[in-house]
Amino acid sequence: MPRKLAPSILSADFAQLADEVDRVSAEADLLHVDVMDGHFVPNLTIGPPVVQSLRKRTDLFLDCHLMVTNPGDLLEDFASAGADGCTVHVELGDPRPLFARMRDLGLRVGLTHNPETPFDAVRPYLEEIDLLLVMSVHPGFGGQSFIPAVLEKLREARRVVDERQLAVELEIDGGINVDTAASAAAAGADILVAGSAIFHHDAPAAAARRIREAAWPAGS
Ligand code: DX5
Ligand code: ZN
Repeated sequence: MPRKLAPSILSADFAQLADEVDRVSAEADLLHVDVMDGHFVPNLTIGPPVVQSLRKRTDLFLDCHLMVTNPGDLLEDFASAGADGCTVHVELGDPRPLFARMRDLGLRVGLTHNPETPFDAVRPYLEEIDLLLVMSVHPGFGGQSFIPAVLEKLREARRVVDERQLAVELEIDGGINVDTAASAAAAGADILVAGSAIFHHDAPAAAARRIREAAWPAGS
């Protein structure tokens, strides 16, 4: 089972973004990019031009989490900018046309669901995706508290993915820190996203390492 850490640049200092990425790269397996449109979620963040700039500065997998109302209008721009994968929200409706576009564009296909959305909403699509993201906060802002109730959905996803032997990575996003990482890992997460717990720290790489160690203690 992969064990990966994905720092979320949402909590980085955008005025020094390249330096922030350099500071955390040694402990990062992917870079999580939170794209918000001020409509699907109230916050407004970054888009393809920033991904294009990041692409020139890092070889890390750029894991773009699209919290936008019209992801279909943006997929091509993200692919051209150098995104490796895009994750779309099931709350928008049937994601299959988006999956087809992502495959055509060479993007890894991710699907996500909000804390209050049941696992049954994503279950029908598990055979068609590369990544299932379990939101453990309400999307829109970094620095929120982890919602433990979502662990049940993660455990269910782990069970189904293992039973069907699917090549789907399970990612969890929101409120991950040294205190919550272990329960997320135990529930079956392959990839932990962490923003404020890494970047709101003087030594982000060390903070990331501590989260990794809390999740997957040496020898486990
Ligand atoms: C929330 C974003 C998260 C966020 C996580 O809408 O999807 O990726 O950056 O931030 P923390 O780790 O601070 O909860
Ligand atoms: Zn995210």
